[in-house]
Amino acid sequence: MRILLTGGAGYIGSHVALDLCSTGHEVIIVDNLSNSSRTAIERVEEITGKTIDFHQLDCRDTVGLRHVFHQRAPEGVIHLAGLKSVGESVAQPLTYYDTNINAALSVIEVMDEFDVRKLIFSSSATVYGDPEFLPLTEQARTGVGISNPYGWTKFFIEQILMDLAASNNLWEISLLRYFNPVGAHESGLIGEDPTGIPNNLMPFVAQVAAGRHDQIKVFGDDYDTPDGTGVRDYIHVMDLGAAHRAALEHLRPGVDIYNVGTGTPVSVLEIISGFEQACGRALPYTIKERRAGDLASTYCCPDKAESELNWKAHRTIAEACQDSWRWQSMNPDGYGTPQGN
Ligand code: NAD
Ligand code: WQD
Repeated sequence: MRILLTGGAGYIGSHVALDLCSTGHEVIIVDNLSNSSRTAIERVEEITGKTIDFHQLDCRDTVGLRHVFHQRAPEGVIHLAGLKSVGESVAQPLTYYDTNINAALSVIEVMDEFDVRKLIFSSSATVYGDPEFLPLTEQARTGVGISNPYGWTKFFIEQILMDLAASNNLWEISLLRYFNPVGAHESGLIGEDPTGIPNNLMPFVAQVAAGRHDQIKVFGDDYDTPDGTGVRDYIHVMDLGAAHRAALEHLRPGVDIYNVGTGTPVSVLEIISGFEQACGRALPYTIKERRAGDLASTYCCPDKAESELNWKAHRTIAEACQDSWRWQSMNPDGYGTPQGN
């Protein structure tokens, strides 16, 4: 298929693009490069030997999007573009509501005009808020205990897409609720390139291993978890890429929702230990206060994706740590160009 991938220069988008290019799909990327670099796309082209049609464009630019649809006639869309920092969204709620919600509205408006109604949307485990039970199935309630505007944008966009599909049964939509994406492509050529000091655990640990920070801060060791530290469901970004392709190939009328995770709970200390194995040395850490808004534990039941999409995560935490370390050590300054280039 010819797929329009919004946000395709970003961390997850570049891995989705790689997966699609290497499995015979044609990829068109729309990205405003607000949190990414053109180099990521060039690296995907280098790895796959395929050409990617790239448009530097804000998804809220409906006129520009129409032009891309007119010129390139995509058959389906994977919509990843958006802002994703939880803390920043608390400080700048309007920026988050404007960017994430208006980008999604603009994309679906233009899709509808061009009779393109196959859509995969990158949602998040954050829509579950405070988990009712673990592991989380897709039936778990959403929208209770969401603690930040970023999370609400995902919840609202899911609702908009469900309303849209209810209004017209030609829409074929898949909502993928990612758990915690980590790792990088095994080549070490593409990976996560956070701006400033990383908020997320794995890129911070990688930067400590690279000597960019003195020590890891473990946010709390008194949770009700096996070792007292926070527990998450870390999914290798290459497995996540494959999940998009599986969802694309199984689209059907209406809205389908899938958890995209491993189902395996992993603690902060287990991540640190996995990274120590990968980089071959001990990594200093100190225990700090719990981080505001953090959950003790969240992980999914991934069975629905396995039974309906024939997809499951194959890569281990050890592989994620090795791949993340390879990317970090081969690219100590990330893509090395300021974002927006
Ligand atoms: P990222 O910031 O690396 O990628 C997002 C991309 O979207 C960037 O390349 C950015 O330049 C682009 N972008 C932002 N606003 C845009 C706009 N208005 N128009 C066009 N392009 C725009 O983030 P990521 O980690 O790759 O996340 C991709 C998607 O997955 C996001 O929607 C994010 O909310 C979602 N998600 C991420 C995680 C995670 O932990 N990384 C977890 C769950 C869901
Ligand atoms: C993981 C664990 C921390 C950093 C966030 C978003 C979520 C989703 C994924 C987009 C927790 C602990 C972290 C550090 C630490 N994004 N930690 N020291 O918070 O599960 O999820 O990213 O949708 O919406 O909230 O991920 O990587 O920040 O934290 O101890 O320096 O690591 O307390 O237990 P989180 P994370």
